[in-house]
Amino acid sequence: PNTPSPFPASFLWGGATAANQIEGAHDKGGKGVSIQDVLPGGIFGPRTEGPTPENLKLEGIDFYHRYAEDIALFAEMGFSVFRFSIAWSRIFPNGDDELPNEEGLAFYDRVLDELEKHGIEPLVTISHYETPLALARKYNGWASRELIGFYERYVRVLFDRYGHRVKYWLTFNEINSVLHVPFMSGGIATPKEELSQQELFQAVHHELVASALATKIAREKAPDAKVGCMVIAMPLYPLTPHPSDALAVMKADHANLMFGDVHVRGAYPGYALRHLRENGIELDITDEDRELLTHTVDFVSFSYYMSICETADPELRKAGEGNILGGVQNPTLEASEWGWQIDPTGLRIVLNQFWDRWQKPLFIVENGLGARDELIEVDGRPTVEDDYRIAYLNDHLVQVGEAIADGVDVLGYTTWGCIDLVSASTAQLSKRYGFIYVDRDDDGSGTLARHRKKSFGWYADVIRSQGAGL
Ligand code: BG6
Repeated sequence: PNTPSPFPASFLWGGATAANQIEGAHDKGGKGVSIQDVLPGGIFGPRTEGPTPENLKLEGIDFYHRYAEDIALFAEMGFSVFRFSIAWSRIFPNGDDELPNEEGLAFYDRVLDELEKHGIEPLVTISHYETPLALARKYNGWASRELIGFYERYVRVLFDRYGHRVKYWLTFNEINSVLHVPFMSGGIATPKEELSQQELFQAVHHELVASALATKIAREKAPDAKVGCMVIAMPLYPLTPHPSDALAVMKADHANLMFGDVHVRGAYPGYALRHLRENGIELDITDEDRELLTHTVDFVSFSYYMSICETADPELRKAGEGNILGGVQNPTLEASEWGWQIDPTGLRIVLNQFWDRWQKPLFIVENGLGARDELIEVDGRPTVEDDYRIAYLNDHLVQVGEAIADGVDVLGYTTWGCIDLVSASTAQLSKRYGFIYVDRDDDGSGTLARHRKKSFGWYADVIRSQGAGL
């Protein structure tokens, strides 16, 4: 507590969520079906014809009805920012509708009212793994250029309606993940094994153009708004000191950094053009696309859960258990119960890498530990003694402080799943991230009651002391 805090007074502290993982009410208020409603098992599970009862996301944690109670709990911890996404299918139920759904818009008005009441800054993700299902079925998602127009219509509605009250916007959650999970990330219905690199990179291009277009629209409609891109940050380490492993790292890193490069610099970098050329990929890039790409972002945001190793040796390069991105396990690190390797130092490294490369303010919009929690009673109140979560977050925040001391401009930090929610990759509720326990189990049972975990009080102290006691 005696050490001075490296965090600036303007630093935004809070938590992050996504509509499809918390809201529930999948068929209420005129909402259409989203791709998540047909993914009951998460990324690696089956794709169902329509919503099926075992899908935990259909009810989520019922944030749709309990948002006021939840936001009050965030305020109790002292949040100055709350990240959530707008469910595209609440606003345009089929994605290609002519007019927006007023009931859906009114819901987010109410959420924003509640945040305003508590002085919490909203941080809005425009598209977070929840493309309207009809866009996937009718157009093959982002593989189709037509998606740019539908996204534009959606974005215009959002900036007209909320542009004056939301300062921070993210265009696409983890935009680089479309290379790895094309259906969840890009609504691309073609099975991954059948999808050509040509189609996949054309989809990437459409998303990059749409993202830049959102920035352009923001400039017109909400000049005070700040627009950021959002990428998965996963620092790569060479598995051995062999130069070919270092080169493998550079190439794998390029596949990720390309997304930030285009968003920040407004054009494709040379290494990306080489990759396209050498793989026989000829992108359809119009002059208008090129002009749109020059509308670059104000900041770069990212999720950070782990680092990963790379090697050029095919024997050693067996698939790891990465979060969406594969990779090779690092023999020096411990892992979470879900096999995600824990590396707080990697966060400092990636903050420095991004800052050195782009010189744009950075926003850590996801970081946290998915773990099984045990609900116990202490002084007659249900709670969780989640010291493991406190340790994880503490160690990562120490590294954020180090990066700030290194001179990196960090706008803020939102922990992932500040309230327990349904996991994206495995669609489980038992993979908990929250400061707030939600009484709901993997079989769907539970009262949905909220309980403060030990980490709730810990985070409140961190925020109150501006990170001085970490
Ligand atoms: C990120 C996503 O990939 O990681 C979130 O943006 C997701 O939607 C988070 O929930 C944690 O992953 P998981 O699979 O543990 O939910």
